[in-house]
Amino acid sequence: MSIASPPNIERVLFTEEQIDRRIREVAAEISRDYQGRVVKLIGVLKGSVFFLTTLARYVDAPLKVDFLGISSFSNKSGAPGVVRIAKDLDESIEGEDVLLIEDIVDTGLTLRYLLQTLSGRAPNSLSVCTFLDRNSRRLVQVPINYRCFEIPDRFVVGFGLDYNQLYRNLGYVAVMKPQT
Ligand code: IMP
Repeated sequence: MSIASPPNIERVLFTEEQIDRRIREVAAEISRDYQGRVVKLIGVLKGSVFFLTTLARYVDAPLKVDFLGISSFSNKSGAPGVVRIAKDLDESIEGEDVLLIEDIVDTGLTLRYLLQTLSGRAPNSLSVCTFLDRNSRRLVQVPINYRCFEIPDRFVVGFGLDYNQLYRNLGYVAVMKPQT
């Protein structure tokens, strides 16, 4: 079922069909790479939930799921990148094969913080899978093992990504009209 585009949407970037097809491809890569191991998907609340649940259903490997929530702040000079954990994981990741699931990697500051924090908890392996990658805005270099789509330098919503907590439930990814 498709619903009418909200008025703030400029154009659809990826349709439901394109998203589903691409997630199946990435899930096949993951299934191959984690053969014989148990993979633990760690979702970053709230944006990655929609992507994680779709991906998880297509991964053909024994799989566990956990979530963590983060808050991002600007520092005193207004620069982004001060991140802290607002809801921690329910279980230890020591000795586990962890695949961190992100909705979008933009500046990379959030992912850098998460990788530093999680690697200190002695997982057996720690890899990253992101739904979207906006490489053009990267401020810090971060490793990404799996990505579904590279996107242009525009604000996007849908399939978990929000603007003021809205639009997460769109089945597609869309570019927002510039807000005045
Ligand atoms: P980073 O720390 O700059 O890489 O930012 C990552 C976070 O910023 C993501 O997890 C999103 O919550 C948010 N974000 C960045 N770009 C967008 C966007 O285009 N739409 C919605 N959220 C975004």
